[in-house]
Amino acid sequence: MSEPGKIGIVGSGLVGSTAAYAMVMRGVGREIILVDLNQARAQAEADDIRHAVPFAHPLNVRAGDYPDLAGCRVVIITAGVNQRPGESRLQLLERNAAVFQAVVPNILAHAPDAILVVATNPVDIMTHLAARYAAAHGVESRRVLGSGTTLDTARFRTLLADHLGVDPHHIHAYVLGEHGDSEVLAWSQVTIGGMPLADFCRHQGIDLDPGARQQIDTRVRRAAYTIIEGKGATYYGIGSALARIVDVILRNQRAILTVCTPLEEVAGVRDVTVSLPNLVGGNGVLATFRQPLTQEEFDQLQASAQVVRGALDRLEQ
Ligand code: LAC
Repeated sequence: MSEPGKIGIVGSGLVGSTAAYAMVMRGVGREIILVDLNQARAQAEADDIRHAVPFAHPLNVRAGDYPDLAGCRVVIITAGVNQRPGESRLQLLERNAAVFQAVVPNILAHAPDAILVVATNPVDIMTHLAARYAAAHGVESRRVLGSGTTLDTARFRTLLADHLGVDPHHIHAYVLGEHGDSEVLAWSQVTIGGMPLADFCRHQGIDLDPGARQQIDTRVRRAAYTIIEGKGATYYGIGSALARIVDVILRNQRAILTVCTPLEEVAGVRDVTVSLPNLVGGNGVLATFRQPLTQEEFDQLQASAQVVRGALDRLEQ
């Protein structure tokens, strides 16, 4: 039996521990278990985050091992290895696939009812693999999801909000496809207060010429590169996105999030994992929406899905 507010985080590096911190700040769940190969690190992160509890929400944060995940409703996976000098992306993928092949069954052995939320990059491919390893334990694919373009969607909304002078909560805008270079900003689907983007801009006398669009597009697509150049890693954005995803699952909020999950077909590409707007609730992904994209956006989405399918094909060779 799972416990309603119990959350596991496997991989307690910057992303995993920032997700835990964000959950303490937001009051998401009741108990968080941090698991890491480096147990001293997990312990130190748990201690540090626990000291924030009196200033935030009453969660119990502790370090543990796989058996401590028993009863978790949600387990976030951020575990994985980093690229070695001279190592190709595919070699890195192979090593991370091996990590997941061990980690996923280990989680499910102790928390068979958990929803798995993958954050390890490349997140689409790692989510696809996690779902495959989980399926061997009878877990339906809708119970395995990845952070996908949740963060890119937030970045898109943030930049639009700045340009349009509107609270980002009132902007509906989605980034689809791979969480990576080929992602697709679905400009044709943007609405603000129920108005299409162009109508809103006309009403407010705002100029959003192709140059301004291009600038927003590049800043969303390149955000992770720019941040990594400046500080070596990204973690506040992704940590907050993970806290939000977990909150939606725990409270069965039925929110529409651009998480990624294995899909039978995306823009004509079969058996692939990329992000589309998904209805997310207590049982994971409840529905996936196909937006009426322009032909150009559809072609971009197809190319993006092919990037992920191609990497999976190479891995499977
Ligand atoms: C980013 C990392 C999480 O986009 O991929 O910030």
